[in-house]
Amino acid sequence: MRITPSLLNADFANLAGEAARIPTADFLHMDVMDNHFVPNLTLGAPVIEALAKAATQPIDAHLMIEDPDRWAPQFVEAGASSVTFHVEAAKAPVRLARELRAQGARASMALKPATPIEPYEDLLPELDMVLIMTVEPGFGGQRFLDLCLPKIRRTRALLDKVGGDIWLQVDGGVSLETIERCAEAGADTFVAGSAVYGADDPGAMVERLRETAVG
Ligand code: DX5
Ligand code: ZN
Repeated sequence: MRITPSLLNADFANLAGEAARIPTADFLHMDVMDNHFVPNLTLGAPVIEALAKAATQPIDAHLMIEDPDRWAPQFVEAGASSVTFHVEAAKAPVRLARELRAQGARASMALKPATPIEPYEDLLPELDMVLIMTVEPGFGGQRFLDLCLPKIRRTRALLDKVGGDIWLQVDGGVSLETIERCAEAGADTFVAGSAVYGADDPGAMVERLRETAVG
């Protein structure tokens, strides 16, 4: 069980300090938004580059942007260890996943709540992780969508069929209340933003989330 906290609700003026508060986080999940794919604007590769140098944890960049085919490789150059693109935005997801892997990064594909996994079954061997969004992407602090649970289960079954070690990440509204449902449905990698940085002790919350996911 991996916990990959989102720094979207952390203090952007002190990202290195905020990362240091969660020393046992498996990755730092960084949400990149372009105000086209989602109605919000956050940060780009220069911020990832600065944080990658300052933090001890590896970086998991979640690109909620149009034209990831063009932009995603720059995030690997900036130091991201894992790069997630949205399949709804990618023009050539197989080519992009292969390019990311060739650069030495983990290649990951994200699906919005209304996007089914089934059309992408044959692509799974090209990936190191699938991200199932459990809110509509764009903002932290939204309510977990239970309607995504059947898709998490179906994705788990497809990944088990494919074999290998492809991680299944969930993102959106993950908290002490919802993480067990996600784990029970088959997720093994958990993004939590407001649950971690809204807590008095974010580092302790990472461990509580992990214990709750393990059950
Ligand atoms: C939302 C982002 C999430 C967000 C999660 O579009 O992709 O990573 O930061 O925040 P919470 O955990 O508060 O839903
Ligand atoms: Zn995210």
